[in-house]
Amino acid sequence: MVGKICGTGSYVPPHVMDNDDLSKIVDTNDEWIRERTGIGKRHIIGEETTSYMAGQAALRAVEQSGIDPEEIDMILVATSSSETVFPCAACEVQKMIGASRAVGYDLNAACTGFVLAFNTAQAYISAGLCRTVMVIGADSMSNMIDWTDRSTCILFGDGAGAALLRAEEGSPVHMAAHSDGVKGPALTGLSRHRKNWEKELEPGAVKESYIHMDGQGVFKFAVRKVPEIIEEVLEESGKSLDEIDYFVLHQANRRIIEAVAKRLKTDISKFPMNLEEYANTSAATVPILIDEMNRKGMFRKGQKIMMAGFGAGLTWAASLFEW
Ligand code: ACO
Repeated sequence: MVGKICGTGSYVPPHVMDNDDLSKIVDTNDEWIRERTGIGKRHIIGEETTSYMAGQAALRAVEQSGIDPEEIDMILVATSSSETVFPCAACEVQKMIGASRAVGYDLNAACTGFVLAFNTAQAYISAGLCRTVMVIGADSMSNMIDWTDRSTCILFGDGAGAALLRAEEGSPVHMAAHSDGVKGPALTGLSRHRKNWEKELEPGAVKESYIHMDGQGVFKFAVRKVPEIIEEVLEESGKSLDEIDYFVLHQANRRIIEAVAKRLKTDISKFPMNLEEYANTSAATVPILIDEMNRKGMFRKGQKIMMAGFGAGLTWAASLFEW
């Protein structure tokens, strides 16, 4: 059995902050941000929380699927920014959508989270342990950003996306995943162990409580590892690059996606993007994009979709499935 997507949903907060709005907070401008990242705006939470956005995305996926929430066996939420450490966001979602039979838990692999959660759900389904699984990626990066750091605050937005999987007979899902903890310091966020908090008060001090990123290091990592893992999954599946209909990549930076397409010698039109509208919503980028494509009617039964995520950890993962 494989988990087929039978419903998708997404939610972004209505409040929009464009590049010009950001230029009033930090020394930046629309041209620099667009040229270096492809980002035009981002949606930012007000009263909403990560689990609220996750629940809204899940409700939309349930509605589209027509499935009774009581049939859902498991809820997996990929997030690194839930408003509470516990209860987990997945239990909040369970309450919101009325999936009283489901077990729920969160999974944190930063921007790679949704692809890993999707692969985890496939493992439960193929083992016969679950039949219907809600997989969500949700993050409110605005809570983690240092809004005085122009090198990071321009990159992120808030949002959530969901895919409801249902066990069916079908071609197997092919997947791969890796981590490299040695390179972890290249991208860190929100230390709960703030041993040096007093030093943070000194002028120019590094604030442990916010995101820190070696931008060029992460860029190089992504451009090298994403093509590698896509080729790894293709080799395992026996499929060729040409057979893939869409490459749905984590939306961190337009230049990363263009570089991956170039390395794979594949036309950029097979790499849909929406980061102009939403920026990098971490674990939510891939499911928001899948929901948008689904609602636009871009998917046909039997099409082959390659998802790939990459991010803090460092972590990277890919999954090849048939629509
Ligand atoms: N506005 C204007 N100027 C800026 C800004 C800004 N927002 N940020 C930095 N600059 C300046 C720098 O100070 C520097 O100035 P200098 O030459 O006078 O020193 C200059 O622009 C170039 O800075 P770089 O950091 O070298 O710029 P780069 O081309 O590397 O772009 C960026 C930076 C966009 C962060 C890029 O490295 C990147 O995209 N990296 C990938 C990381 C990423 O996408 N992370 C997302 C989170 S991780 C994830 O999702 C996996």
